[in-house]
Amino acid sequence: MTAAALELFARSVTSLPPAIMAACLVKRCTYLLREATRLASAGSPVGQLRLARVAHRTLTSSATSPSSCFPGSLSQHVEREQAFTHYPERQEVDELIEKATRPEEVLELLGGGHCLHQNHGALMLIQLARLLAEKPEGKASLIQDARFQQLLHLVNNQITAVWHGTLVKLLRSLYVLALPAASRELRSVEQEVRWRLRRLRYKHLVFLAESSTAYMQERGSQELLAELLVHLERRWAEIEDGRTLVAIMTKTGHLSESLMNRLEDKCLELVEQFGPEELRKVLVALAAHNRRSVPLLRAISYHLVQKPFSLTKGVLLDLAYAYGRLGFHQTQVFQRLAADLLPHTPSLSSGEVARCTKSFAFLKWLNLPLFEAFAQHTLSRAQSISVPHLCNMLLAFARLNFRPEQEDQFFSLVHEKLGAQLAGLDPSLQVDVLWALCVLQQARGAQLQAVLHPAFHTQFLGARSPKGQSTFQKLVHINATAQLEHPEYTGPLLPATALVPRPSAPDRKVTPLQKELQETLKGLLGGADRGCFLVPTQYGWVLDAEVLLDPDGQFLPLRDFVAPHLAPPSGGQPLPPGAKRLAFLCWEFPNFNSRSKDLLGRFVLARRHVRAAGFLVADVPYYEWLELKSEWQKGAYLKDKIRKAVAEELAK
Ligand SMILES: *[C@@H]1O[C@H](CO)[C@@H](O)[C@H](O)[C@H]1NC(C)=O
Repeated sequence: MTAAALELFARSVTSLPPAIMAACLVKRCTYLLREATRLASAGSPVGQLRLARVAHRTLTSSATSPSSCFPGSLSQHVEREQAFTHYPERQEVDELIEKATRPEEVLELLGGGHCLHQNHGALMLIQLARLLAEKPEGKASLIQDARFQQLLHLVNNQITAVWHGTLVKLLRSLYVLALPAASRELRSVEQEVRWRLRRLRYKHLVFLAESSTAYMQERGSQELLAELLVHLERRWAEIEDGRTLVAIMTKTGHLSESLMNRLEDKCLELVEQFGPEELRKVLVALAAHNRRSVPLLRAISYHLVQKPFSLTKGVLLDLAYAYGRLGFHQTQVFQRLAADLLPHTPSLSSGEVARCTKSFAFLKWLNLPLFEAFAQHTLSRAQSISVPHLCNMLLAFARLNFRPEQEDQFFSLVHEKLGAQLAGLDPSLQVDVLWALCVLQQARGAQLQAVLHPAFHTQFLGARSPKGQSTFQKLVHINATAQLEHPEYTGPLLPATALVPRPSAPDRKVTPLQKELQETLKGLLGGADRGCFLVPTQYGWVLDAEVLLDPDGQFLPLRDFVAPHLAPPSGGQPLPPGAKRLAFLCWEFPNFNSRSKDLLGRFVLARRHVRAAGFLVADVPYYEWLELKSEWQKGAYLKDKIRKAVAEELAK
């Protein structure tokens, strides 16, 4: 056994000068002899067993491969060496490498007559990378250094004998040292890693995934990266702990769909053991890669609700962000987030408050105490809050149609802050902000003028992109607000022609609710000319149904009469005295705040506009319609809606 180890060792030091080699041999022999005696005489059965096994493997392998020239036999030796539970004794040089505080000290070891075994060169490179991690200027001059080149060369020659753990660190170090992508030494280390991928321990693969995937992408090491991902995926069952799982997910989840699927499966298995930090990381990784894995989100939600662990501010904010980004609704989680966040509000920064408000708005989750606290927070930081943060809050408030209790103070702060700055914002953000103010009924004449002015709005008229079209749509709503809710407003307005070339009713699918409403209503009307369906208006809203009622509540034919709300306006005859237009507006589940019967801001605005345009409004919310079973019930429901709308009008 000693002889075999000696032979192995001798091969590993052949690149050293003969004198040093001899010294090393003596030292190493002494060590091996001592070890062998210790193991044998210790009498421990484990020790003897190990010894026997190693001896056996050595014998059999040297019988089958007497020559050591083949890479196969070399790597066998590497494996064999790793079967020793005792690595070679720590030498002085190990300590010197570790303790070096300057690259120079490391390089000096090369010429110092030290006894270097096959790992030392790699360890030196690793230490150099550690020392230079933060110093790009040092790297360039190091790479020029002849001793560094000599070191690279040495490592390159010994590469097959470097231990697994050292090898993966070596690769990362070469990346950190910014060796040129075409460097022969770098390529050879990468090649060696590829060869060994199957044999590396899973933790080594994870180390590479964590520390080096970004480099591999940058440096064009696509093959290695692809193989690494394949191995990570193939051996996913070896993942044992949450930390590892989360690390792979965060670093490589976006690189391989199939790996990510595996990781999500594994997550389901381990989620029970996760602490808040891991739950957070998994959620953030899912959000970052936009992966709405419902079973996993459900499981995570379950643990967040059930487990008593306390969630820090940072975790709470990230959770809110991730749920918002993924649009995953889980009432109990939101209740917990809101309740846990509330006491933290005073310590949040304005940016955090803005971000959090936005997350909850995405989720359509209006928690009044929390939102009041956010508004209060904004008021108390009036001096320091920035316009972008304020804009984010406004957009979120408008989405949920939330007006703080201290409405007047809040909006005067908004107007004071926006003041001169509004005009300087990105044009589409400017439209968004003004639209939000319209929803919240806080827009001012001068602000309306600014965006409705041709010099401003022209840029959006021909917009084709979805974003551009949505901005134009908001401009139409602002135009309608000016016209319907600001009687003193004198213009400018959007030209009527702006609406004509585009189909104002987007080819939205007719929902079951809309379809049933149409069918039921047709049954009541007694004539095709007595009702219109999906009527596009010049206000940018589509009426689900429109009818005209005479003072006795009878349906009149629609088409003969003036219809200023249409785009373009039509008809010539004035309405008969006492006649009233009535609009049916269907409200679907997604039109409401989560878990509530309060409409989102957008639909509140629509409803207000339709009323301001002179319509009676009959609301048909999904939750009422779903209760109606028979045709007869549906008809009676609609008749009742009409009666109530008329009565309400009379009561005014
Ligand atoms: C803007 O409002 C004016 C005034 O009511 C209206 O004539 C015009 O058609 C509207 N423009 C658009 C694009 O809706």
